[in-house]
Amino acid sequence: MKTKIAVLVSGGGTNLQALIDAQGSVIASGKITLVVSNQPGAYALERAKKAGIAAAVVTKKEWGGQKGFEEKLKQVLKENGIEMIVLAGFMAILSKDFTDEYPQRIINIHPSLIPSFCGEGFYGLHVHEAALSYGVKVTGATVHYVNEIPDGGKIILQKAVEIQEGDTPEVLQRRVMEQAEWILLPQATELVCRRIQEEKA
Ligand code: GAR
Repeated sequence: MKTKIAVLVSGGGTNLQALIDAQGSVIASGKITLVVSNQPGAYALERAKKAGIAAAVVTKKEWGGQKGFEEKLKQVLKENGIEMIVLAGFMAILSKDFTDEYPQRIINIHPSLIPSFCGEGFYGLHVHEAALSYGVKVTGATVHYVNEIPDGGKIILQKAVEIQEGDTPEVLQRRVMEQAEWILLPQATELVCRRIQEEKA
């Protein structure tokens, strides 16, 4: 039986798309059975729909803040028999209470080489703005396990990407996605799915 994966999203969902496209090839040991967004208007929800994957929306507003939000999230994940969670552009922080339920079973993609430009406040374009304003010549992406420390869990995969003269945050973001994120996230997902299968055997 393939490992049941939930992908948590908040925005455009290009990383979700990379995961969908990698199913049956790079991702051989798992199957995306659920997409959850904390943003009702996220385009990622359209991508899930087009791929025929069940999708749910769970917001903090609707569930009365962090605790209610996480309780609902846990319920939806349990109901769907989810064994592994991929944060793919998921812009909410999860508490220790939540992450302890899924030890070494939640992974996140971050658009820099951790430990640079990571932690609270470093998300999306802000990460690339920070890299450019610092003046680093190399950046990249990191896939890591998720614990209660933002971007603090054990690193699984990393890939470097060169910064070019005249880069804007948007241009750099796209290059990091194309050259690192969309490649690493499916690879790391497969590694974790395979490990979970071995643990079950
Ligand atoms: C991606 O670059 C992802 O690495 C980043 O947000 C973008 C989401 O794009 N995630 C973070 O910054 C998390 N701290 P997507 O919705 O097109 O996948």
